[in-house]
Amino acid sequence: MKSERDRTAGPAGFETMAIHGPSEERPYPYRAVSPPIVHSSTFRFEDIDAMRTEMDDAREGIFYSRRNNPTSLDAEQRLAMLEGCDNGALFACGMAAITTTVLSRVEAGDHVAVFKDIYGGAVNFFTNVLPRYGVAVTWVDTNDYAGLESALQPNTKAIYFESPTNPMLKIVDLERMGEIGRRHGAALIFDNTLATPYLQRPLDWGIDGVVYSATKYLCGHSDLIMGAATGAAEWMDGVHNTRYVFGGVIDPHSAWLFSRSLATLAVRMERHCDNAERLAEFLVSHPQVERVQFPALAEPEQRALAERQMRRYGAMIGFEVKGGGDRADRVVSRLRHVCLGPSLGGIESLIVEPRYATHRRMTREQREALGIGEGMLRLSVGMESVDDLIADFTQALEG
Ligand SMILES: Cc1ncc(COP(=O)(O)O)c(C=O)c1O
Repeated sequence: MKSERDRTAGPAGFETMAIHGPSEERPYPYRAVSPPIVHSSTFRFEDIDAMRTEMDDAREGIFYSRRNNPTSLDAEQRLAMLEGCDNGALFACGMAAITTTVLSRVEAGDHVAVFKDIYGGAVNFFTNVLPRYGVAVTWVDTNDYAGLESALQPNTKAIYFESPTNPMLKIVDLERMGEIGRRHGAALIFDNTLATPYLQRPLDWGIDGVVYSATKYLCGHSDLIMGAATGAAEWMDGVHNTRYVFGGVIDPHSAWLFSRSLATLAVRMERHCDNAERLAEFLVSHPQVERVQFPALAEPEQRALAERQMRRYGAMIGFEVKGGGDRADRVVSRLRHVCLGPSLGGIESLIVEPRYATHRRMTREQREALGIGEGMLRLSVGMESVDDLIADFTQALEG
């Protein structure tokens, strides 16, 4: 019997797209269900015309793997499907995605505005690198929308921010930011690492370009360093052309691992979020805990914003223990299942004191200005049995 399959049917659900990716429209060679890993740096052609056609197609042309590779293209299209956009790009790490995307939008003489609560590596880039190339940077208090508008100038080309922020988990109003960006003609570049496209789709709210540390939830197993960017086709042309120059690409095997990880993103995020909600509830009622940062426990306006633009609250928790830094050190040193480590978004729970890791280059006063006290802990809630995690924190907080 002949196939009656309609390969042009409308968009599928998140999990279906994550599992099948572009393969329903573009079946893989050898009838494979898993994307083939094409370990080839370059590609051969039947004739010169065929080669020229492929080389002229910057978006999908396959002639040299620094430009495009079949395994990476498949992974990039899978991510773009989940994000609801045309195109994606994978990078050697999140910082390569951030720097390449920003540099694809600005030139000497331009200005960018940046919210203060962003990842430390990005702070370093905007503070110590971008100004050296003639791009002025203005820092704005996160969520000060009036302050942002007054910081914008005729030459402001981009506004950079993230939400939820790390580690204070502030929620920024994406729709409002989209509206401000459009009115002032400034592109919005947004780091969606903590939410992932499963919990939040920034492009739906008017954001122009999204960046990720794919090292975190997208890859999700604390075994890869990778970055990603997504956006509309024309936006991504700039990103791809800049990546072709700077060269922060990944190898085909890593691209395959990325696709494999993406296939389970939805189930992983659900479990991460279930565990985080239980742990946040536990921590907020514990007598040794001073305060807890978690969008579900935030003030009503912030909580409502999270509920409007996110599917769930995410799986990062910030909390401050009573007794300051010494007490926080003791809690961390007593934890059994929860690993002491600086990353986030992996299957295992990871905890860190921002004063020793993400914010170690700041003075105590600078940290306190951001709301980060000496007893603050940042927890990336993993997928372990939640009762084990609660028991682990019980003995660590009470010991
Ligand atoms: C929110 C956020 N963005 C970007 C990065 C940078 O990503 P990578 O370490 O993959 O370069 C990190 C790293 O911790 C991060 O937490």
